Amino acid sequence: MSTVVLVGAQWGDEGKGKLTDYMAEEADVVVRYQGGNNAGHTVVTGGREFKLHLVPSGILHPEKVCVIGNGVVIDPAVLRRELEMLGESGWSLATLYISERAHLIMPYHRRLDELEEENRNGCCIGTTRRGIGPAYTDKYARDGIRMVDLLEKDAQRLKKIVARKCRFMEKLYDSRDFNPEEVVREYLGHAAHFRPYVRDTSLLVYDAVQAGRNVLFEGAQGTLLDVDHGTYPYVTSSNPTAAAAAVGSGVGPRVIDHVIGVTKAYTTRVGEGPFPTELEDGTGQCLRQAGREFGTTTGRPRRCGWLDAVVLRYAARVNGLDYLAVTKLDVLSGLPMLRICRAYNSRGREIRDFPSRVSDLAEYVPVYEELPGWSEDLTGVRSLNELPGAARGYLERLSELAGVPVGLVSVGPGREQTLALIPPFGR
Ligand code: IMP
Repeated sequence: MSTVVLVGAQWGDEGKGKLTDYMAEEADVVVRYQGGNNAGHTVVTGGREFKLHLVPSGILHPEKVCVIGNGVVIDPAVLRRELEMLGESGWSLATLYISERAHLIMPYHRRLDELEEENRNGCCIGTTRRGIGPAYTDKYARDGIRMVDLLEKDAQRLKKIVARKCRFMEKLYDSRDFNPEEVVREYLGHAAHFRPYVRDTSLLVYDAVQAGRNVLFEGAQGTLLDVDHGTYPYVTSSNPTAAAAAVGSGVGPRVIDHVIGVTKAYTTRVGEGPFPTELEDGTGQCLRQAGREFGTTTGRPRRCGWLDAVVLRYAARVNGLDYLAVTKLDVLSGLPMLRICRAYNSRGREIRDFPSRVSDLAEYVPVYEELPGWSEDLTGVRSLNELPGAARGYLERLSELAGVPVGLVSVGPGREQTLALIPPFGR
C-alpha cells in the first residue's frame, strides 16, 4: 500500500486532473484536500471530455472511493450541478463521500469576492470570483458554515450566521441583494441532496490507510498560489502544498508516503502577479494556441512562458517532492529552440532561490539555458525510448536543474498518452 500526494509545482493548471485520473487506476481512494470551484480539472475518457470543479477525477473510474475533504470549500449549487452532470452521463456516485467538516461558500461570499476585487484600487488579484477568499476568511474567523450545519435538524447556526452576514453586507457595502430567509431556504433545499454523501471522511481515509489501501491526495491550484508559500498576495486563500493534504483530509502527516509534483513542460499563469519567464510575443501565443491555454473555470486566456527551474526547485523544497510529472511535452513540438530559466539575475547577482517578495520577483531577469527543440509529433509516443533525442535531453536538463527526477511524462490528454518512468504507487 502507498499514499501519494499529487501537487501542482507551478501556478496551477499543470494537468493534475489528467494525472489524478491516470493514477486513480491504481488508487483505491482519491481525496481532494483544499480549494473549491476555483479549480477546474479537465479529464478525457472514452473520447469524452469532463470538466470537474469539486468532485475528484477518480469518480471517472468505477468503484473508486472519492472524498471531498474537510479542507475544501463547497459551493452547494455548483456541487449539485456537477453531481447531476455525472449522474446523467452514467457515472455512479455510490462511492462519493463529502466531509461533514467542509465549509460552504455562501452567496454573500461570491458577492464579497467581486466587491473586494473592485475595491482593491488597481491592485486586483484577479480571483476567479467564486467566493473562495471570503469563504476561507469566514472559516478562520470562525464564522463559517459547515456541511454539518446544513444537516442539523433546526439549522440554528446556519440561520444565525446568515442573518448576521446579510446585515453586515447591507451595512458595510450597502448591498441589499440578500434576503436571509431566502438564503436559508435555498441552502436547506440543498441539504437533502447531500445527506447521502456526508460522512466523517477523516475516519474513512484513516480506515483505508489502516487497511493498506492506495490513497491518492489530489491538490488543486499549485505551489505558487499557496497562501503561505506562493507569490503573496497574488495567491489563492488555501494551501495547495503537500503538507496541507494531511490537514485537509484529517490524517496525520506520517501517513503521506510520496509526493509527486506536476509541472507543465513550460509555464502558465492566470490572474495578476509577477511571472519572470512570461512570453508576451509570438512564442507565447504559439504556446497558448497549441496548449489550448484557456481557463477551465473562467475561460480566461492563460499567460504563457518558458519553463522556470527556480520555481521547480522551490516546489521540490516546500513540498518535499519525490519526483516530477511533466505534462504537455507534446505542446513544445515545432519550436526550433527551447529555453529553461535556471536562475534569476538581479543587478549582476545570480539568484537561485525563489524570493518571498513579489517586488523582487518583478525585478528579476531570467537567466536562460537554450536547448534544441524537435519537430516530431509526440502524441503517439508510448515509451521514453520513442521520444526524439532533443525531447529526452530537455527532460534530463529540466530534472537536473530542478534537482528531482522525472517520473511521469504526459504527451496528450488521454490516459494512454502517459509514460510512467517510475510506477506511481510503487516507490
Ligand atoms: P481565487 O482562488 O479565486 O481567490 O483566485 C486567486 C488567484 O488564484 C487568482 O490569480 C486565480 O486566477 C488563481 N487561481 C485560483 N484557482 C486556480 C486554478 O485552479 N488554476 C489556476 N489559477 C487559479
